[in-house]
Amino acid sequence: MNIPALTETAHAMVAEGKGLLAMDESNGTCNKRFASAGIPQTLAMRRAWRELLLTTPGLSTCISGVILYDETIRQAAAGGTPFPRLAQDAGLLVGIKVDTGAKALAAHPGETVTEGLDGLRERLLSYFGMGARFAKWRGVIALDDLRRPTSACTSANAHALARYAALCQEAGLVPIVEPEVLMDGPHTQARCQEATEAVLHSVFEQLVLQGVVLEAMILKPNMVVAGLACSVQNTAAEVAGATLQCLRRVVPAAVPGIMFLSGGQSGEDASSRLSAMQGQGDLPWPLSFSYGRALQHPALDIWAGQEANRLPAQQALMHRARCNSAALKGGYSTAMEAA
Ligand code: 13P
Repeated sequence: MNIPALTETAHAMVAEGKGLLAMDESNGTCNKRFASAGIPQTLAMRRAWRELLLTTPGLSTCISGVILYDETIRQAAAGGTPFPRLAQDAGLLVGIKVDTGAKALAAHPGETVTEGLDGLRERLLSYFGMGARFAKWRGVIALDDLRRPTSACTSANAHALARYAALCQEAGLVPIVEPEVLMDGPHTQARCQEATEAVLHSVFEQLVLQGVVLEAMILKPNMVVAGLACSVQNTAAEVAGATLQCLRRVVPAAVPGIMFLSGGQSGEDASSRLSAMQGQGDLPWPLSFSYGRALQHPALDIWAGQEANRLPAQQALMHRARCNSAALKGGYSTAMEAA
């Protein structure tokens, strides 16, 4: 295992002022987003959208790397350049989503376990050969006020994340460990914090048990927020305070970086909450973003599948990338949206 190379990649992922662009939606998820934007759900349109994202001028000033999907990492730009090469030439690290999705957890209605360990060692070697230097696996944790998450769900997902992470490090890929406590539902922020802490405790216990080198991984957690259907929504400062309290309690200082998912927050919320986390005392790890929806929307709506809208869509993506880059220095304000 080449730990120095892995840690170098991990540090490059959280380089100052930069975060990740998650563009690794599975075909099903990508098609759903296309459907709501009125875009035909075809392989050709998915390719065109990913090419638009990867060729956005100046992207690497705010973005350190991109997370691709299995279909995407095998595709090429219209001019014939393979997407991984296109990303590298643009100064972006290449990452790859390697889980095969969240599946119903037997005997636990409403809960899932993420699958994809079978054959993973071989797939990782093949992705490394295509240029990938980091990977992503997302465990999904549903939350309610009563029963969920069960410890069966938490421990099954933590175990899978840890086994995936150990295999990644063996193959020369930095694992992004993503246990996502979902925002769906009416739960309070306090309930989210309690569940997020318990999940992260379980994840780090399993990571250590499976021999994962903490210095050579990235944690991708949810922010501590009230459920989307909760009547009390918190301020950016409250989200920042609860999220940092939670992370300080459970994330070892050895971890080289924490890169948040957006999880269905608006682009503005994802930027302002990230910005509010800066300057809240010394933290042992750099904080950054690994956003999907909070970066890609509204660029996707502007594009609408029309080549003529390419430039304004890329400008919209760059705008969100700049807002989040500013947030990493505590410098995001809603005034940036007007500009
Ligand atoms: P969102 O930011 O849209 O939650 O996507 C990030 C991601 O990579 C989810 O796995």
